[in-house]
Amino acid sequence: MARILGIESSCDETAASIVEDGERILSSVVASQLDVHAKYGGVVPELASREHLRSIVPVVREAMAEAGLAWPDLDAVAATSGPGLAGSLLVGLTYAKSICFATGLPLIAVNHIEGHIHAVILEAKQRGTPVEFPALAMIVSGGHTHMFEASGSAYKLLGRTRDDAAGEAFDKVGKLLGFGYPGGPVIDRLAPFGDPDAVPFTSARMKGNTLDFSFSGLKTAVLRWVESHPMQEGIEARKALLRVNPRPTDGEWLAVTSQDVLDLVASFQHSVVEQLLRHALGATSLMENAKSLVISGGVACNSGLRAAVTQRTIGMPVHFPSFGLSTDNAVMIAAAAFVKFAQGEFAGFDCAAEPNLILAK
Ligand code: KG4
Ligand code: ZN
Repeated sequence: MARILGIESSCDETAASIVEDGERILSSVVASQLDVHAKYGGVVPELASREHLRSIVPVVREAMAEAGLAWPDLDAVAATSGPGLAGSLLVGLTYAKSICFATGLPLIAVNHIEGHIHAVILEAKQRGTPVEFPALAMIVSGGHTHMFEASGSAYKLLGRTRDDAAGEAFDKVGKLLGFGYPGGPVIDRLAPFGDPDAVPFTSARMKGNTLDFSFSGLKTAVLRWVESHPMQEGIEARKALLRVNPRPTDGEWLAVTSQDVLDLVASFQHSVVEQLLRHALGATSLMENAKSLVISGGVACNSGLRAAVTQRTIGMPVHFPSFGLSTDNAVMIAAAAFVKFAQGEFAGFDCAAEPNLILAK
């Protein structure tokens, strides 16, 4: 039996979790910095590292207390070593190293993207329907949009975004329309009130690797649409609403959002989902022996995506994480670390934070 403390601090969440044998979650604590970054319309790296510094000790302490464990009960400490924001990664990784230095526990370095995949593997195992390999893994978040062929812990990159990540597109469009940060969850909630076919966005067709993604053209098309339609008043009204109420309800949003904006939001989401679905289908036809599709990362919360990408549309089992484990968390880091623990893959104290760490070529 192995109990691993996982630490995640790659972006704007400070998280710690203890997972037993890569399967049983003994504790999970996530301190989100959303409120700190919201007023800037995106993550401010300097503020993120400062918040991680503030939170890391209490968050790890809480995870240990929630699990009812002390250091000698652990078998290893794992931390995200990349990809992510340099200053943010450093806080979690350095704290993990200091625990290891003080306790003698081994250190495990985890790739954040592999973590997202393991969130799904862990929950599928818990449900009694384990992910079957080789699998297609699509990671769609604020920082990443990648598709891999995954065979156990071996990965091959099939496609990646050439510009914005899918979540980044959601966030930029949300900000442009006055919905604040992060835009993804608000757009998801409001899209059902609009007509997804109202704005005819052309889908991105890639030259070269057709499994590569692109979202910046769509984002620009939304910008052009906004510029050529009378939407400014509504945008100001929504910004004003956010200033007095940081978390409006659907009804409060709808009161300051016209039908043409709802149609725009629905069409935008439809276009993103359509690209993700098309690429998932493209990958399944390319990788003939694929047994399942894994989708993870913050955008995996999107209800339009969950409704569109199903076993019926894809032709194989599709595994999504629960909402709590779709966005950044440390359960996924501790779960991914278990595989490395079993293989004796430990990191030295010279292990560096790598903002551009890749999972596979
Ligand atoms: O995985 P995550 O927490 O952080 C990164 O590793 O980037 O993902 C955050 C991203 C944000 O861009 C956010 O807008 C997006 O996930 N997101 C969503 C939804 N919930 C979160 N995008 C679309 N629909 C959602 N329901
Ligand atoms: Zn992430």
